[in-house]
Amino acid sequence: MHCSYGQRRQNKSRLSPEVITQTIKDLSFLGTKAAYISGGGEPTTLSKWHDYAQMMLDSQMEVALITNSVAIKPEHYKLLRQFNYIAVSVYSTKEEQYKAIVGANHFEGQFSLPKKLKDQDSKLIVGARCVINGINYQEIFNTYKKAMEEGFDYIIFIPAVDYEKRSIDLSEEQKQSVLEQIENGLSHINPATTNLINVKNNGVGHYGSTYLPKLQKSVLCNAIAMRSNVFINYDGEVYLCQPLIGNKEYSLGNLNEHRFLDLWNAKRHREVIAKLHEKFAKGACENCRAISYNVAIDRLLQGDKPAIIPSDNFL
Ligand SMILES: C[S@@+](CC[C@H](N)C(=O)[O-])C[C@H]1O[C@@H](n2cnc3c(N)ncnc32)[C@H](O)[C@@H]1O
Ligand code: SF4
Repeated sequence: MHCSYGQRRQNKSRLSPEVITQTIKDLSFLGTKAAYISGGGEPTTLSKWHDYAQMMLDSQMEVALITNSVAIKPEHYKLLRQFNYIAVSVYSTKEEQYKAIVGANHFEGQFSLPKKLKDQDSKLIVGARCVINGINYQEIFNTYKKAMEEGFDYIIFIPAVDYEKRSIDLSEEQKQSVLEQIENGLSHINPATTNLINVKNNGVGHYGSTYLPKLQKSVLCNAIAMRSNVFINYDGEVYLCQPLIGNKEYSLGNLNEHRFLDLWNAKRHREVIAKLHEKFAKGACENCRAISYNVAIDRLLQGDKPAIIPSDNFL
């Protein structure tokens, strides 16, 4: 009910195997260090997703997966153990809440992957992600406890962001309840295994919305300036910013028409970068993890000692 792709994924298109394999080759040629496989949609429902993941591993990329775990089968475990991390979306320890949020029959399976994948020598990180919405907002500590009992390395809680403007975010009352739960449960929180303290410090908000007053040294988006990230959408459009996926004004072009190698560093790529710096400088970016990153970089440029730069393992 809260999925950020609820509307945007009504379009059922998929990339062809030819486009996917060519893009992996191009990314490898450009020296890509790592890829995470996520959605729009559930990535493990794409046939041959495991072959593409293996191809990336064979190209020396680190690979990670964000999944609801519904379609993961025992024959995938060997491949998954070679990944850098897997993040599993979990929802609630109450079956009726799980059903109301997801509508699937995978309640028992939500928390099962760590025990199936991890062994004593395993380096694989298996994390959990729980979006807090109007149905599960009073279940936070039960979900935290369950995730720890079932062997997850961490669990992050993400207050639902209303990306598609369909009123799925928490009401002020619900946010207050989340704050109270965290304050009352402080002694049970291990900051190495959850971001709940950060959720409290952000006022159950998301990545700080008014960032301009905090910036004194740098009014361009340093995440974009690094040119180190790209998002490839299921419809072939190529984007530089996660919250702007689907907004073609910011697309570098489409992989069904051009190879990735022809889009990267092309004139359009430079134009989009300029447009994004302009958007960032106006204070118009929202719901983006790069905002916290930019605030931290600015503090560093201001000469702050590294010790007071926010340390957030879960950014
Ligand atoms: C869009 S899903 C796609 C991958 C996969 N199908 C899954 O369910 O995990 C990726 C992640 O986006 C996050 N997400 C989904 N809807 C969200 C929302 N409205 N606000 C914040 N995060 C959201 C969840 O943390 C989820 O783990
Ligand atoms: S802060 Fe703005 S420009 Fe930078 S990555 Fe996020 S949406 Fe893009």
